[in-house]
Amino acid sequence: MDKLIIEGGLPLRGRVRVSGSKNAALPILFASILLDSPVTYTNVPNLRDIHTTLKLLNILGLEAGFESGAAEVKPAGQLNPEAPYDLVKTMRASVLCLGPLLARLGEARVALPGGCAIGARPVNLHLTALEKMGARFDLDSGYIEGKTSGLHGAKIVFDQVTVGGTENLLMAAALAKGETILENAAREPEVVDLANFLIACGAKITGHGTPVIRIEGVESLSGCRYPIMSDRIEAGTYLVAAAMTGGELTLENCPCEAMDAVFSKLREMGVVIDEAPDGLVVRRGGELKCMDVTTIPYPGFPTDMQAQIMALMCVSSGAGTIRETIFENRFMHVQELMRMGADIKVSSQSAFVRGVTRLTGAPVMASDLRASASLVVAGLTAHGVTEVQRIYHLDRGYEAMEVKLQALGARIKRAKE
Ligand code: UD1
Repeated sequence: MDKLIIEGGLPLRGRVRVSGSKNAALPILFASILLDSPVTYTNVPNLRDIHTTLKLLNILGLEAGFESGAAEVKPAGQLNPEAPYDLVKTMRASVLCLGPLLARLGEARVALPGGCAIGARPVNLHLTALEKMGARFDLDSGYIEGKTSGLHGAKIVFDQVTVGGTENLLMAAALAKGETILENAAREPEVVDLANFLIACGAKITGHGTPVIRIEGVESLSGCRYPIMSDRIEAGTYLVAAAMTGGELTLENCPCEAMDAVFSKLREMGVVIDEAPDGLVVRRGGELKCMDVTTIPYPGFPTDMQAQIMALMCVSSGAGTIRETIFENRFMHVQELMRMGADIKVSSQSAFVRGVTRLTGAPVMASDLRASASLVVAGLTAHGVTEVQRIYHLDRGYEAMEVKLQALGARIKRAKE
């Protein structure tokens, strides 16, 4: 297992290119199952989750390969309906093959993803909605077994905003008979990217990016060449790192139009963010101040930026409360930040953060993807050496993070644990 060793205290300076979005790429790769002809994706980040997805597509019978930021997927001669537990347990997003398999093959056998470090994360909303479209489900030996004699359009009102649920249903409805209406649909930019991809393949979708999406099923979808959107969470993480270390960064390829809530909260805290013609320029504008933050579905402040903004608040003046409303157990980074000297009190779904003058380096343990990122940015500003252990979480979602940070002047290296 690898760890990162960080000697903190140096301001980050320079230009950094934001990679393709993991959370957009995964559902879009799964949408390949729906296609009749080969597809090429560009701006695909080189990440562990991407390789897991391509491996799963191979197991399902498709031909999938990756080379220098582009993935190519060719349709299956014969689709295999089973997504095995060994892969699903390493990546919950695997459940996104359920909708496409039902639409294309009429059956799916997908391991039920278990809980994970950030909460229970059930898929009941995906299943109830697919049932309305004519699928039936059984649970057999830890597998969801789905069957349908043909999906049909339906009106679906989600009880709760679900990103994965909206994506599974969009894919299923794209090839269903008739019209599907998704109400209380997720508006996340990654959902919009999936809809745009499906439209580029011939799907009939309107309303994506609003709470009501209408999908008129078509007979078939064909491949195209599609650039995946850039990663708003990776970009946000570099914004936080620049502000925390007191440096100045220019971000290239930043999906600014998808980042209003993050920009506005960081500006409130005293971070200067300028959209210049050659990239997004970010620096600390004097003293940083703690603010209150609540995670909510898009266009609200994203849960995937909660851990990183908490790290920033740890070294800002005053105090603020972070409320996590999406996941019930997403404060695993708190104990680790406290080992570095942070002053945080957790009560149920809220964390009360009081800024301290400085953090001190310590050995810390990454518990999930975004928690890992918060420990890295904390380590970059801490006095002394921080060792972030279990960084396989980080490798799931941040492309070449230590390489990018080294190029910006950070003292950071990867080592074996
Ligand atoms: C969620 C985040 C997404 C983030 C991703 C990875 C939201 C709305 N979603 O997406 O931004 O990128 O995690 O961290 O911010 N739920 C159910 N039953 C279901 C599906 C969901 O109860 O069938 C609940 C979940 O437990 C959670 C909430 O609904 O409390 C939102 O879940 P969902 O959006 O589906 O999760 P992801 O798609 O993983």
